[in-house]
Amino acid sequence: MGSMEITEATWERLLALRKGTADLASTDAAYDLYSPIAGARGQFVLAQVGQSLDGRIATPSGDARNVSGPDGLAHLHRCRALVDAVIVGVGTVRADDPRLSVRMVRGPAPVRVVVDCHAVLDGSESLFHDGGAPVVVFRSASARGRPLPTAEVIDLQAKACGLDPRDILDALARRNLHRILVEGGARTIARFIDANLVDRLHVAISPIIIGSGPSGIMLPPIDRLTCAHRPATEVYNLGSDILFDCRLERQRASDRQGQEVRMANHA
Ligand SMILES: NC(=O)c1ccc[n+]([C@@H]2O[C@H](COP(=O)([O-])OP(=O)(O)OC[C@H]3O[C@@H](n4cnc5c(N)ncnc54)[C@H](OP(=O)(O)O)[C@@H]3O)[C@@H](O)[C@H]2O)c1
Repeated sequence: MGSMEITEATWERLLALRKGTADLASTDAAYDLYSPIAGARGQFVLAQVGQSLDGRIATPSGDARNVSGPDGLAHLHRCRALVDAVIVGVGTVRADDPRLSVRMVRGPAPVRVVVDCHAVLDGSESLFHDGGAPVVVFRSASARGRPLPTAEVIDLQAKACGLDPRDILDALARRNLHRILVEGGARTIARFIDANLVDRLHVAISPIIIGSGPSGIMLPPIDRLTCAHRPATEVYNLGSDILFDCRLERQRASDRQGQEVRMANHA
């Protein structure tokens, strides 16, 4: 297991790599962990989950604020600082009213993206008023929502199971947003994994036991373990949390001409 301590010099190099002004060279565990994000050219999707020992991301009533320990949270803020945009589902905005900003490390703030298929946000949510990074909201073209202050609303044609994550990524790419962090919740991450659109999955496990509540990743059921995802994985000791850095097999645009998206019914 790589023990991960990040120095100011390594973080500086990673921020330079993000800007394209440093070259790729592995020097320590932190560089190994973050350089695939900072150095990604073209579309790159990272999904991140902070969960308890028993796989929960919140209590049944939706309290998720301190599931991760301080080092898990700092890791999340580093990931935010290295991407162009961070995506959450409307369930997370309603439960947490998050800022989705970079506060625990120095670095740029990503564009904030919310998937709100049925247009339930009413504009009172904090991210529309906090003066932070730009906000983009994806809705179904058939939803009749209110105008949202300060946000760009993008209407997509909904499919049988909702908005196609590929259409979301394509719309972001047209805005020059290529490095993407899908931060949650479980249903939003599931849609991207199920569509084979995630390059890396980070699961940060904190030594607490919640006992019940939603799990971090919910995919359609499988019958046999031979059908389970078995990604190549590196493990890092962040300090307060243990991080599993999983390489998922992402489907590239050239592989998916004319394919229908399969999405979890419950996602
Ligand atoms: N610990 C962590 O790492 C972490 C991170 C983030 C969130 N959370 C917790 O997770 C919980 C929320 O998770 P959640 O799974 O309930 O909600 P969620 O994933 O935040 O949002 C799910 C909703 O977003 C909409 N949505 C997302 N992708 C869509 C798509 N491709 N097409 C159409 N609609 C889409 C759907 O809204 P409609 O139902 O309106 O169609 C869906 O029900 C909260 O308790 C939050 O605190 C934990």
